[in-house]
Amino acid sequence: MQPPIYLDNAAGTRLDPRVLDAMLPYLGECYGNAASHTHVYGWRAEEAVARSRAQVAQLLNCAGEELIWTSGATESNNLALRGLIAGLAARGRRVLSPRTEHASVLAPLRDLAARGQIELGLLDVQRDGSLDLQAFAEALRPGTVLASVMWVNNETGVVQDIAAISAICRARGVLLHVDATQAVGKLAIDLSALDIAALSFSAHKLHGPQGIGALYLRREVRAHLQPQQLGGSQEQGLRAGTLPVHQIVGCAEACRLAQLALPQERERLRRLRDRLWQGLSQLPGVFLNGHASAHAPQILNVGFEQLPPLALLEKLSPALAISGGAACSSAQAQASPVLLALGRSREQALSSLRFSLGRYSSEQDVDVAIELVAQALRQLRSATAAAPAAGEEKDCPMKRMRRRAQQRAAQTLGVGA
Ligand SMILES: Cc1ncc(COP(=O)(O)O)c(C=O)c1O
Repeated sequence: MQPPIYLDNAAGTRLDPRVLDAMLPYLGECYGNAASHTHVYGWRAEEAVARSRAQVAQLLNCAGEELIWTSGATESNNLALRGLIAGLAARGRRVLSPRTEHASVLAPLRDLAARGQIELGLLDVQRDGSLDLQAFAEALRPGTVLASVMWVNNETGVVQDIAAISAICRARGVLLHVDATQAVGKLAIDLSALDIAALSFSAHKLHGPQGIGALYLRREVRAHLQPQQLGGSQEQGLRAGTLPVHQIVGCAEACRLAQLALPQERERLRRLRDRLWQGLSQLPGVFLNGHASAHAPQILNVGFEQLPPLALLEKLSPALAISGGAACSSAQAQASPVLLALGRSREQALSSLRFSLGRYSSEQDVDVAIELVAQALRQLRSATAAAPAAGEEKDCPMKRMRRRAQQRAAQTLGVGA
């Protein structure tokens, strides 16, 4: 049986074998603690961490000391938002963010607002997912201390104009945090040229290991960040805990490889995305979720009119590993708040598919994906009533997809369902 075609790189990417090679010594003979200053094992680990810091800093064009290692973008976002809001409390308490941010930004902000620690302004986006810059500037009312804007949206691929947004923030004396999880390694980022106070990312979105990422914190802002995890003095006292040296080395190697290939890879991914859109846009009832030109090279989100909720995603499973505009909580599929914020109806959101490309995606993957979608669509459109099979209505469609794939795998292995 052919393995499913993987087009879900915005969720996670395959570890590059060169990254694994770089990590292996630090899972073997180099086992020292980077905070041990009294022997060669510790010194070696400390040197590896310092080299890694310099490599990541090169990709972002910042100073190594401006990077704090974290367990990934969720922690970086929480640290930046909670830490800066606590440090800036005496200056003001208004914080601004678009509605289309990732949950790891919106959840801590909503939590702080519910506790009365901030006044939260959530901004609408335009139908193409972009921020109206004038509305953004007007919303930075006196008392606003922090804005948090995602560079590349993880669901739609829409790219915000971070240069313009950072200039607006600078003019108003507001600090800007950027969730760049889907941008690092995909777009050219020059932090020396932008007024960004803090920036988050995760290594596993760029063919590095899971469980490691960093928070860039501009030197002048450091004094405003209150640490959220206390203990040892690692990371200049801003994030306590023994450093995972193998993951840090992997993160740095992933950044080095991304930087080496960035312009060519960006073009290659853009061509693949164009090819995918070219093929899908010929199909009946299709629409684009996102911006026609301000989009990242690796993400394409498309919807299909008048289909039963999640029917297309279910039909494509398990042949295509992609994601849809929904999350399952209990039996009811919840439409993506990002797609709803773009003005899509619940039905449109639940018939949307996100394709995301990576280093190992090929033209053949794209062509097969187009054919599979076309076939599935023909079947769904010709079915008069696409009611789910009896007895399955109470199930979340995603759970159903998983159960069927497991049953199929069990049958292939001859162990029965
Ligand atoms: C834009 C964005 N921010 C934050 C995160 C959270 O990253 P992690 O799960 O690595 O902490 C993700 C993950 O999908 C993301 O896409």
